[in-house]
Amino acid sequence: MQWRRRHCCTHAVKLFYLLSFLGVLVFLVHQVWLPRSTGMPRWKGHPVVYGGLHITRAKWNTSGHRSAWRFVIIPRPTSLADNNVTSPENVGALYQQTGLSFEDPLAANTSITEQEGFGGTINHGPFPYIINEPNKCAKNRATPFLVLLIATEARQVEARNAIRLTWGNESVVSALGIIRIFLLGKKDGELGLLQQKMLQTESRRHHDIIQQDFLDSYKNLTIKTLMGMNWVAMHCPQVSYVMKTDSDVFVNTEYLIHKLLHPELKPKKNYFTGNNMRGFAPNRNKKSKWYMPPEHYPGDKYPTFCSGTGYVFSGDLARKIYRASLTVRHLHLEDVYVGICLAKLGIEPTPPPNEFLFNHWRVSYSSCKYSHLITSHGFHPNELLKYWHHLQGNKSNACINAFKKRAGRLHSNRMNGETMNADSQ
Ligand SMILES: *[C@@H]1O[C@H](CO)[C@@H](O)[C@H](O)[C@H]1NC(C)=O
Ligand SMILES: *[C@@H]1O[C@H](CO)[C@@H](O)[C@H](O)[C@H]1NC(C)=O
Ligand SMILES: *[C@@H]1O[C@H](CO)[C@@H](O)[C@H](O)[C@H]1NC(C)=O
Ligand SMILES: *[C@@H]1O[C@H](CO)[C@@H](O)[C@H](O)[C@H]1NC(C)=O
Ligand SMILES: *[C@@H]1O[C@H](CO)[C@@H](O)[C@H](O)[C@H]1NC(C)=O
Ligand SMILES: *[C@@H]1O[C@H](CO)[C@@H](O)[C@H](O)[C@H]1NC(C)=O
Repeated sequence: MQWRRRHCCTHAVKLFYLLSFLGVLVFLVHQVWLPRSTGMPRWKGHPVVYGGLHITRAKWNTSGHRSAWRFVIIPRPTSLADNNVTSPENVGALYQQTGLSFEDPLAANTSITEQEGFGGTINHGPFPYIINEPNKCAKNRATPFLVLLIATEARQVEARNAIRLTWGNESVVSALGIIRIFLLGKKDGELGLLQQKMLQTESRRHHDIIQQDFLDSYKNLTIKTLMGMNWVAMHCPQVSYVMKTDSDVFVNTEYLIHKLLHPELKPKKNYFTGNNMRGFAPNRNKKSKWYMPPEHYPGDKYPTFCSGTGYVFSGDLARKIYRASLTVRHLHLEDVYVGICLAKLGIEPTPPPNEFLFNHWRVSYSSCKYSHLITSHGFHPNELLKYWHHLQGNKSNACINAFKKRAGRLHSNRMNGETMNADSQ
């Protein structure tokens, strides 16, 4: 009797362990595969105020920083679309319903048509180029596939060098033409002059710098981005895709190219994607760095835009966005501004295939997570080098290793637990 009870208990215990181990496996797979954010999202105090319920609930809840955000939540009148936000067709429908209202006070008067808007020639715009690489694209052996536009400042030499050695390496996907362009304005004063000399030297060496004669400041980021669009439109109009990003971002170039852009397919047109920010409202707090004066943007909601830490678009859009910008009042928030130009063109950014691809915060590093994302934000140049090399060394089995490590750790915990139980009995 006793034997039988004990025997059956042992079985039950074994079964219990087996089941919990399976549970743990399922848990692990989720943990390993889904990148989690660490640190604060970039939009803790992002230029905008959160103004709708348009981010999927999972994203909203998992980030867990809700109370820390300095946003005002604006109650929105419930609209049909609220229940259907995740499906792209319905986003389009919502956009049709409400999307254009913001524009009325801005530039209601102008309308761009294919003939008058995009046919004309464009020039360098209001600021002449100080450093340019007009032949870089034409000289490229392969047909250019991707232009990387990277916003940087003169002093960030280290960051530029790290990018050259890592994700911005133009031969990282050797069969395709990749073109790396750093975007810079000009600094004032003596330091500015010194930096300018060094920049000229750097440019002669690497041929990847373009610079126009505007003051390089946070508030002029929009001008910097437009310079990039202008360069693509003027000097590389045949490129299939363009990515605009910052110098402190980790970009998984290979994943971007093979998993999102698919060079084997016909290049898309009117395509724009990134970390979609939908339903955000202007920040009206005068003390905020991101204050948007109502006279500059009277609307109560921005059109969908993509976080400036990394967005990707089809090459044809460079020209269209640049043309649109000639009739849209400049705002200092670069990503919002590009979103407004897109809205003016009637183009809604495409949601990325999954919401873990474009991270405008820093994702904690693991080779598994980093082999399945496109951007992660907030890197020191040394970290870029370190993580890039780790990822290159382990990319063929990025997730198997991570999985084994976790499973091993868990297994040993379990074994310890078992011995402890046995001891206490
Ligand atoms: C999100 O969190 C809030 C409060 O923390 C909770 O009330 C709500 O049910 C959660 N939603 C989901 C989908 O988990
Ligand atoms: C949501 O979308 C589905 C199909 O896309 C549609 O049948 C349904 O009516 C929509 N619901 C609302 C509330 O719009
Ligand atoms: C409307 O457009 C016309 C010509 O395109 C321009 O002359 C006029 O100043 C514009 N009006 C406003 C209010 O912007
Ligand atoms: C760029 O990548 C290629 C191919 O992986 C490599 O041979 C080359 O050394 C890299 N260049 C730099 C500057 O790291
Ligand atoms: C932007 O650049 C222009 C041209 O150099 C300059 O006049 C202006 O002051 C700059 N704006 C800001 C806010 O820095
Ligand atoms: C691959 O990952 C292991 C374990 O994290 C690490 O020790 C090794 O240095 C990595 N390989 C390369 C080439 O970085």
